[in-house]
Amino acid sequence: MIELFLVGGLLAFALYACSKKTLRSDGRKVPPGPDQSLVFGNFKDIDTERVHQSLHALAKKYGTMMSIRLLRRKIVVLNSADVINEAFGSEQYKDLLNDKAQGFYGTYLVYGHADVLLGPCRDLTFRIKEVMSLGLRPAMVPSALAGDCRKMLEMLGKHGSNDFDPADDLHTLFAEVTSKLISGEVKDGDVKLMWDFVDWSNRLLNPSVESLLKNFPFLRHLPVKVGVLFREVLAKRDVLLARYLDTTRETYVKGKERGLVDTCFAIQEKEIRANGESWLTDDMVRATILDTIGAGLVSTTNSVLAVILNLLHNPACQDRMRQELRAVVHPAALVTQADMNGLPYCRAVVMETLRLSCVVPIVSHYCSAGDVDLAGYTIEKGTMVWGNLWSALHDDHIWVEPWSFKPERFLDDDGKLLPKEHKFMKALIPLGVGRRICVGYDFAMTRIFAFVTTMVQHYDITPPVDTELLSNDPNLFSAGAVLQPDRFKCKLVKIQK
Ligand code: HEM
Repeated sequence: MIELFLVGGLLAFALYACSKKTLRSDGRKVPPGPDQSLVFGNFKDIDTERVHQSLHALAKKYGTMMSIRLLRRKIVVLNSADVINEAFGSEQYKDLLNDKAQGFYGTYLVYGHADVLLGPCRDLTFRIKEVMSLGLRPAMVPSALAGDCRKMLEMLGKHGSNDFDPADDLHTLFAEVTSKLISGEVKDGDVKLMWDFVDWSNRLLNPSVESLLKNFPFLRHLPVKVGVLFREVLAKRDVLLARYLDTTRETYVKGKERGLVDTCFAIQEKEIRANGESWLTDDMVRATILDTIGAGLVSTTNSVLAVILNLLHNPACQDRMRQELRAVVHPAALVTQADMNGLPYCRAVVMETLRLSCVVPIVSHYCSAGDVDLAGYTIEKGTMVWGNLWSALHDDHIWVEPWSFKPERFLDDDGKLLPKEHKFMKALIPLGVGRRICVGYDFAMTRIFAFVTTMVQHYDITPPVDTELLSNDPNLFSAGAVLQPDRFKCKLVKIQK
């Protein structure tokens, strides 16, 4: 009898201890999570250099929603595609969970969050997002895509049958593509200007540097390491924007929109004619240029590198792609966007890479409008809400063998792509969902698809002769806001037609 009381008492205590952690005084439940230390919160559980991997380990323990705290910052992490879709994609939460928190970078480098990527959840942000979509149109015309594919073939052709590092070519190619997207042209020095800005910005965006500057913004004026770094990035930003805003304006011709910036000029002119002033300010145009480079350049480059790595490790996939390409695209023709529908296996290869390699592992939103009840838990006002795409895209409740490269998982028995309603298609969210979905979605998918298929159409991509082939395990990619495979080499063998 005494034992029964003891066991009952222990059970009651255990339940109390659990509920103490997750029940609020009003009876609503906060998502569970690891114990937090008074000052630092969960810093002990998070490797700040590889945040996505630390979160994945915690997700295994705490499930689809979990709470953590980093210093004073409360964070709810969403770990499954279902919950991410519901939180960011449903009508119910569209105004509540799609805000962005104020940060140092957005405030001091992106004109007070005048952009889309870091912009608050307000009509103006989504108006600018529409402008960005419009501005991407000139880059989507078939001749622009064909020009970029030809440029890629010209670059690859120079390597003959020697080992080479594809990152060198792709860095140049995507910087040129981005330059054309923004201004309609590429000038000497553009590639260096762009990558310089990206590399220096990444140093500033390192979580420990960003959080130090956010808490003590006056440091940006001082002769300390972070202050020097800030001023360096600011100088690089200004040179970049002088090139892309001021120089583009000098050669702008009304009615001839060459790219994103011309689209902005045309809207500004129309607004000024109609209303005497434009809601789209020059700072907003500057901010959209920074977004295009910051959000688009690294993610697309690294996605193509990831496809190449996956194909190097799966030569049978290349053969199957080539077979499909031969049946649909004339050997002397370039792959077009219109061909995409007829090439389901090739599309599945790109989709599977975006899933497995998941180059943008975490998206960061902010709950600012009030408390939100989601999936049985309460997210309190003032909480950051992270979409853990890394865990969602490697969730073994959805994906069979989530760490294996299996493009065929996206095809039905007839070799066609699964319908949109299929659970795999709904769970494939590497470019986000809902109001904050990537504005460069179509552009990125088309460019990645065209580059990869054109490469496979012309070349067998084979391992290097002189060095060992790099692993395609995305867990080994260099971490950051965008994951990046280490430098690797490969060799091309021309396909005889
Ligand atoms: C494979 C390439 C790409 C990947 C994996 C990717 C991924 C993403 C992801 C995950 C988001 C965040 C969604 C969220 O906050 O919930 C995003 C947003 C965004 N992306 Fe991309 N992206 C890619 C290419 C591009 C390109 C080429 C551009 C520009 C031309 C671009 C511009 C943006 C912008 C401006 C946003 C912010 C949208 C918003 O907050 O409303 N991205 N992207």
